[in-house]
Amino acid sequence: MTNQADLTLRTLTPGENIPYSLLLLADETKEAIDKYIHQSVIYVLEYGKEMIAVCATAMISEGVMEIKNIAVREDWQNKGVGYRFLLDIIDKAREQECSELIICTPDCAKKQLYLYQKAGFCISDIVRDYYRNHYPEPIIENGIELKDMAILKMSL
Ligand code: ACO
Repeated sequence: MTNQADLTLRTLTPGENIPYSLLLLADETKEAIDKYIHQSVIYVLEYGKEMIAVCATAMISEGVMEIKNIAVREDWQNKGVGYRFLLDIIDKAREQECSELIICTPDCAKKQLYLYQKAGFCISDIVRDYYRNHYPEPIIENGIELKDMAILKMSL
């Protein structure tokens, strides 16, 4: 069992390769990622030299930060890494004196909804047919077509 104290958090520096393989765990296509990644701060969690998780955040209006992408490498999932990472990102947002943090996910994504609410987010809105309107092909996850998007918010 790996001790979470062995994980280090850092910001990706300009010029480093963007970790698309991790980001693609949370987003459908590289094109979708490219719409936000170049305006984002990219945090990575490392175990030694291995990158095991990524999180991209962007300021979407004054004082409002959005977590655009959070992903944990598959062999590290369900070990508490995502939760710890989320709490670290919330701390980073507080350090930057943001007043609000936002995260969006499909309304049928049970694990993500549970995790985000456990970390302190509350569901604020549902955007009907978001995934049907923003992606060229239907997205099927766990046998369900993604349709509506839940927006979760946290006041800091
Ligand atoms: N329904 C409800 N809860 C579940 C389910 C489920 N089907 N499966 C697992 N859980 C619970 C676990 O029991 C655990 O809770 P607990 O610790 O209270 O028992 C929790 O969900 C998972 O917590 P962690 O282990 O900390 O999470 P993990 O390290 O797996 O990271 C993450 C979560 C980031 C969602 C990861 O699974 C992942 O990378 N998934 C693929 C990419 C993804 O979906 N990213 C989010 C997309 S939305 C966005 O990026 C803005």
